[in-house]
Amino acid sequence: MCGIVAAAARREVSEILLEGLRRLEYRGYDSAGMALVDNEHNLQLHKQQGKVCELEKAQAMRPLLGCTGIAHTRWATHGEPSAVNAHPHISGQRLALVHNGIIENHAALREQLIAQGYEFTSATDTEVVVHLLHSFLLQGNPLLAAMQETVCLLEGAYALAVVDIEHPDEVVAARKGSPLVVGVGIGENFLASDQLALRQVTDRFIFLEEGDVVQISPSSLQIFDESGNPVERARTMISAAVEVADLGGFDHYMLKEIHEQPRALAATFAQSAALPAADDCFGAGAAAVFDRVRAVQIVACGTSFHAGMVARYWLEELAGIPCQVEVASEFRYRKRVTRPDTLLVTISQSGETADTLAALRNAGADEFIASLVISNVDNSSLVRDSDLVFLTRAGMEIGVASTKAFTTQLVGLLLLTLALGRRGAMTEQKQQEVMVALQGLPDYVQQTLELDSAIERLSGAFIPRHHALFLGRGIQYPIAMEGALKLKEISYIHAEAYPAGELKHGPLALVDDDMPVVAVAPSDDLLEKLKSNLEEVRSRGGELYVFADRQAGFVSEARVHVLPMPHCPEVIKPIVYTVALQLLSYHVALQKGTDVDKPRNLAKSVTVE
Ligand code: F6R
Repeated sequence: MCGIVAAAARREVSEILLEGLRRLEYRGYDSAGMALVDNEHNLQLHKQQGKVCELEKAQAMRPLLGCTGIAHTRWATHGEPSAVNAHPHISGQRLALVHNGIIENHAALREQLIAQGYEFTSATDTEVVVHLLHSFLLQGNPLLAAMQETVCLLEGAYALAVVDIEHPDEVVAARKGSPLVVGVGIGENFLASDQLALRQVTDRFIFLEEGDVVQISPSSLQIFDESGNPVERARTMISAAVEVADLGGFDHYMLKEIHEQPRALAATFAQSAALPAADDCFGAGAAAVFDRVRAVQIVACGTSFHAGMVARYWLEELAGIPCQVEVASEFRYRKRVTRPDTLLVTISQSGETADTLAALRNAGADEFIASLVISNVDNSSLVRDSDLVFLTRAGMEIGVASTKAFTTQLVGLLLLTLALGRRGAMTEQKQQEVMVALQGLPDYVQQTLELDSAIERLSGAFIPRHHALFLGRGIQYPIAMEGALKLKEISYIHAEAYPAGELKHGPLALVDDDMPVVAVAPSDDLLEKLKSNLEEVRSRGGELYVFADRQAGFVSEARVHVLPMPHCPEVIKPIVYTVALQLLSYHVALQKGTDVDKPRNLAKSVTVE
């Protein structure tokens, strides 16, 4: 959450910083700011409420010049979104600082600093850091030493970057719990929360470790570990084949990403065939780990958690492996009893989600036999901290609402089910069926995408509604949850998902002619049970929107609208039906006029707790 870009160069850096912020805007977009040290060693500052385009306007009206600078796009935690609370924060008219994360002991530090005479202008937790740094500079420390002293006093998570007019060529930065990467240039160096922000200026990166402090200037780059010792960190070349973040003719990234799914699913599945042994797509040593696995614990957040919920059905039904699934924010703080020989599986599109990362890091030393992450971002913190890695090949996902990342996660989880099932309960024939289904998946998804106009027609009915209910049974229940999450996050319509059998235990009271009820209803073993539940809804005046294949036998009639889905193999139905629900929320949001790609209050990469 929040994006940081910084540069120490021999050329003007304002445009580099702004371009970096545009690329990082998915991390937060309620305010943005930038500070430069100009040639006369003055601090120049812009801070704006709103998206990065507001900062661009301010820069166009009053251009800031300078070769050393920091910039930030914010997702508010402490203090409302406003220009005053936007970063950079200033101390002593000489220092400017940007921060990503949460300083948990900010209240105590604030009191101490006020007692020392510091005046606070913002409601943020961040402002304590810049004043602390200033106090250490006043004691005669150089900027680097002041940062090292400061971070010793901070509790919580941070990526920090600071400029100081007394050290006009330098940026000093530090990280703990929030990502930060150095971009190595020729005669210039950069920093950012994500290497994507810097692909315009370099292809060489250093991913900083927990507790690192770094000092960059145009000609130097020094990294110190948590104990203050100088360290060398590995340099990574990231291919110049930069993924271009353009809309490719679509109106929104979300729509583009929904339509990219056939290719993304095929690329993700292809990894299993491209390597010598099927398990190799999970990383070196996977086969030996999988031989020992007797249970699986999945931990994730949001949409990725829903992927985990689907996987539980596959792992237990197909592979015969007991599986628990939990949201990371609960799992990380719970006293747990873990079965012997359990594999910890984390799922995270970004690989940076703070709760999921903490769940991995807090796992007991002997609690799990190994950790496996399913992620879309190579080199992310979860990827670097896990024993085994499955990389989804979704390509960059820019829309805040996750679409292709979710469905490719499901492919990874089905491949994991195959890997574990092969060692146990799964017959050769069943394995073959699953492989054939996965091969055909891109085609079924393509057929679903072709239902776009029909789904758009259905979506109109949701516009005036304030609530919607999503129902599913069995493995389609988590798909109903995912459908409800998509609808609420981008259209702001309150949507809840229930396993349809639970309706009569309470939620049925909500049903009236103002409550649209979406049913995920493919022909499967639970169809007849689901149909009875839907009858209960109909007889209470509820209006049904049924996503079902022809074999399920639904017919459109008064207050029942059937969306005819392709008939596909059972095992991939959760993936195929998801795509239809993604299109439903997209069209509802579009007609409601919300910001589909950047819904209010949200950010793509949730790096704070
Ligand atoms: C919803 C969505 C979020 C994320 C969640 C976890 O569309 O995108 O619910 O799934 O914040 O993010 P990752 O997968 O990056 O850990």
